[in-house]
Amino acid sequence: MEGRLRLQLCLAMCVQVLVVGTVVVAGAGARPPAMYVFGSSIVDVGNNNYLPGAAVARANRPYNGIDFPGSIPTGRFSNGYNTADYVAKNMGFVLSPPAYLSLAPNSTSSPLVLAALSSGVNYASGGAGILDSTNAGSTIPLSKQLEYFNATKAKMVAAVGAGAVSSLLSRSIFLVNIGNNDFYVFAAAELARNRSAEEQRSDAAALYASLLSNYSATITELYAMGARKLAIMNVWQLGCVPAVRVLSPTGACSGLLNQLAGGFNGALGSLLASLAPKLPGLAYSLADSFGFTQDVLADPAVAGFTDIAGACCGSGRLGGEADCAPNSTLCADRDRHVFWDRAHPSQRMAFLAAQAFYDGPAKYTSPINFMQLVQSR
Ligand SMILES: *[C@@H]1O[C@H](CO)[C@@H](O)[C@H](O)[C@H]1NC(C)=O
Ligand SMILES: *[C@@H]1O[C@H](CO)[C@@H](O)[C@H](O)[C@H]1NC(C)=O
Ligand SMILES: *[C@@H]1O[C@H](CO)[C@@H](O)[C@H](O)[C@H]1NC(C)=O
Ligand SMILES: *[C@@H]1O[C@H](CO)[C@@H](O)[C@H](O)[C@H]1NC(C)=O
Ligand SMILES: *[C@@H]1O[C@H](CO)[C@@H](O)[C@H](O)[C@H]1NC(C)=O
Repeated sequence: MEGRLRLQLCLAMCVQVLVVGTVVVAGAGARPPAMYVFGSSIVDVGNNNYLPGAAVARANRPYNGIDFPGSIPTGRFSNGYNTADYVAKNMGFVLSPPAYLSLAPNSTSSPLVLAALSSGVNYASGGAGILDSTNAGSTIPLSKQLEYFNATKAKMVAAVGAGAVSSLLSRSIFLVNIGNNDFYVFAAAELARNRSAEEQRSDAAALYASLLSNYSATITELYAMGARKLAIMNVWQLGCVPAVRVLSPTGACSGLLNQLAGGFNGALGSLLASLAPKLPGLAYSLADSFGFTQDVLADPAVAGFTDIAGACCGSGRLGGEADCAPNSTLCADRDRHVFWDRAHPSQRMAFLAAQAFYDGPAKYTSPINFMQLVQSR
C-alpha cells in the first residue's frame, strides 16, 4: 500500500518535473521529454527475451553484450550499445528507453507508465517486418508494436490526463527502423521458388506496393496517436552482411538485396515527402542508413575498420553461418569490425551511424538531421 502510494506520488512529481523542465529549459541542449522506438533487431533492446518459442531471434547470451556496462547480454544484437541507444544518447538520454515487455504493462501506476512519461518505451523486436507476415509468430510485428504503444498511451492518459500526454508526445521523438527483415524473407522465398529475373522484378514491385502502403498507414496512425517528430532510418546495405556474403563463393555482397533495399529507400523518401505536408505539424528526419553503410564499406579505414566482411562473433565462413553464441569464435578487436554478428552492426558502427544522423554530413539526412528534429517546434 505504502509502495503504491509512493509510486503515485513519484508519478505526479515526475510529471511536474517534466512540465516545469520544459517551460524552463526549452532552448538548445534540452533533451526531448521521451523517445518511443519501433522496428527490428537493429533497435531491439530486449523485447524478444520475453517472447516464447524456439524460433524467436534472441541475443540473451554471451558474447552479446560483452562491451555493455557489466559485460551482460541484454537482448541487444550487439557487443554493447545499439543504434537506438546511440540515437538516444545523442539526444541527451542515458541510453534507449527500456523494452516494453520488460515493464509490467498492467496497472496505471506501473513501471510502464513511469517509463513512458519520463523517458519513453522501446517496442522494437528482432525479426519484425513492416508486414505482419514477415517472420509471423516469432516476433512483434510493426502493427502490434503500434497497438502496444496505443495501449501505453491509454495508461498514460489515465494517469495524467489527455492534455499533458498530448503535449508530451508532440515534443517526443518517434524512432523507426524497419524493413530489413521483409527483404530477407522475400529474397529467400524468391530463391526457393526459382523465379526468373523478370518475375523477380514484378514480385518486387508488388512487395514495394504493400510495404509502402503499410509504412504510410503506420506513419498516419502514429500521427493520429500524437506523434509529431519522426526519426526514420531507411534500410541499410543488407546485401553485405556476413549471413548474405557467405552465400557467395567469393564473399561478395548480394546485388539483388542491395538493389531491393535501395529501390525501397528511394520510394520511402518520396512517400515521406508527399505524406508529411498532409499531416499538419509533423516534422521528420529520414536517415540514410544505406548511404552511410555504403560509404563506410567503400572506405573503411577512415572509420578505423579493418574487417568489413566477417562477423566478429559467429562461426563458419566469415562467421556468417551461425548466430553469436557462447561457443562462437570471437574476434580480437571488436571496434575494427563493421559487423558484430552475421546480421548486425558492431557497437562502433552503431555509434558512428547515430552520430552521422544526429549532426553529421548533410547528405545522410533529409530534409533535416536528428538534432534539428529535436529542436524543431
Ligand atoms: C497483464 O494482464 C493480462 C490479462 O489480464 C495477463 O495475461 C498478463 O499476464 C499480465 N501481465 C503482467 C506482466 O502482469
Ligand atoms: C487506439 O486505442 C483507441 C482506444 O483507446 C482506439 O479507439 C483506436 O482505434 C486505437 N488505435 C489504433 C491505431 O490501434
Ligand atoms: C530454375 O529455373 C531455370 C529456368 O528459369 C532452370 O533452368 C533451372 O533448372 C531451375 N533451377 C531449379 C533448381 O529448379
Ligand atoms: C499491412 O498490410 C496487411 C496486408 O498486406 C494488412 O493486413 C495490415 O493491416 C497492414 N498494416 C497496416 C499497419 O496498415
Ligand atoms: C555451438 O553449440 C551449438 C549447440 O548449442 C551447436 O549446435 C553448434 O554446432 C556449436 N557451434 C560450434 C561452432 O561449435
